[in-house]
Order: sequence, then structure tokens, then C-alpha cells
Amino acid sequence: MEIYKALLEGNKKWVNQRLLEDPEFFNNLAKGQSPQVLWIGCSDSRVPANEITGTKPGEIFVHRNIANMVVHTDMNMLSVLDYSVNVLHVRHVIVCGHYGCGGVKAAMGSQQFGIIDNWLRNIKDVYRLHQTELDAIADEDARFDRLVELNVMEQVFDLSKTSIIQNAWRTRNSPVVHGWVYSLKTGIIKDLDVSFDSSTKLPPIYQIESPMIV
Ligand code: CO
Repeated sequence: MEIYKALLEGNKKWVNQRLLEDPEFFNNLAKGQSPQVLWIGCSDSRVPANEITGTKPGEIFVHRNIANMVVHTDMNMLSVLDYSVNVLHVRHVIVCGHYGCGGVKAAMGSQQFGIIDNWLRNIKDVYRLHQTELDAIADEDARFDRLVELNVMEQVFDLSKTSIIQNAWRTRNSPVVHGWVYSLKTGIIKDLDVSFDSSTKLPPIYQIESPMIV
């Protein structure tokens, strides 16, 4: 069977299974969504947000891109962030990276891949910020793992620098921003314990005041 047909067949089986468990499953979802979590993850096909967290449709609002980046000029990311924080009022924003990330690996090398090089440039900036620590790791796999972690930490930091997050902290003490890393080899998610819930941990240059009312 052609793969796209297998997907449609898979969908039918999935619908039947859901209805078997709960005849109102789709009727309830169709009424609306109120997810408590925004997930910013990698596009990698092996890291599906709902599946690895044992959550169902309706529980996680998802944004995925190559190497789970928070690029402050990315209108797509900013729109997802603003909508989930200011309209859906999510309580947690999770940046989840993963060991073995092809984007991070590519950023560590000097090979050209095309347009994506511009995206990966942001990861090279993370490397440069932590160059002393990273260059001191002799084992290449260990250095790769550490860059995956540091990249997640910097994206958590970049989220905290946005006016969207800082205004939400000021007005309703939410959401908490977390940094996680998923292991492809074990399936286990590691919490990097770099959660931010206020701008006080940010260097003053990134702290912004409440907007002027005109
Ligand atoms: Co990846």
C-alpha cells in the first residue's frame, strides 16, 4: 500500500478506537480547546509531543521547527506564543530539545546544506556563547549532547526576553517556562531545571517595563 493511503487507513482505525473508548470524544473536542501547555519542539519525526508525553488531543498547543528554536524575528513562533499565552492562557511553555538532533549536529559542522544554514546560524551563536565549556569537552558525542542542552537553555532564555512572556509575568504571574531534553535512545525526558517564572533572573538589559498607555 502506498504510504499516504496507509495514513488514511490509520486515521479510520484511530477514529474507531477513540469512539470505542468514548462516543463523545470528537463532539467534546469540537466544542473548543483549553490546553494548559505550549510545546516548542523539534520537527524531527521521532519526537511527537503528544505521544512521548502520554497526552491526548486538546492538551498541548504545539509549535515545532528544526532544532526547537525561539528566534525573535520568527513571526510564526511569535504568533503561536502570543496566541497561546494571551488568548489560551497556557500555564506552562516547554522548550523540548532532543539528543541526536540533526539540526544541532549540522550547526556544529561547516558543511553547507542550503537555506537551512541561516536557521542553524542561531545555534552556532549558542556555541560561541558557550565556546569555552564546549571546546573543553574532548569527546565529540558528549560535546554534541551538551550543545543540545545549552541550545534548549538559550531558547528558554530567549523566550523570557520576549515582551509576550514578560508582560504575562507582570500581569498574571504565568506562564512558567521550562527546558527539557528528550532521549531518542531511552524515550526519557530530562528536565534541565532551568525554569523561569519571572524576569528577575534576566540580566537588566533584557528586562522591560510595562507598556506606556497613550
Ligand atoms: Co532535532
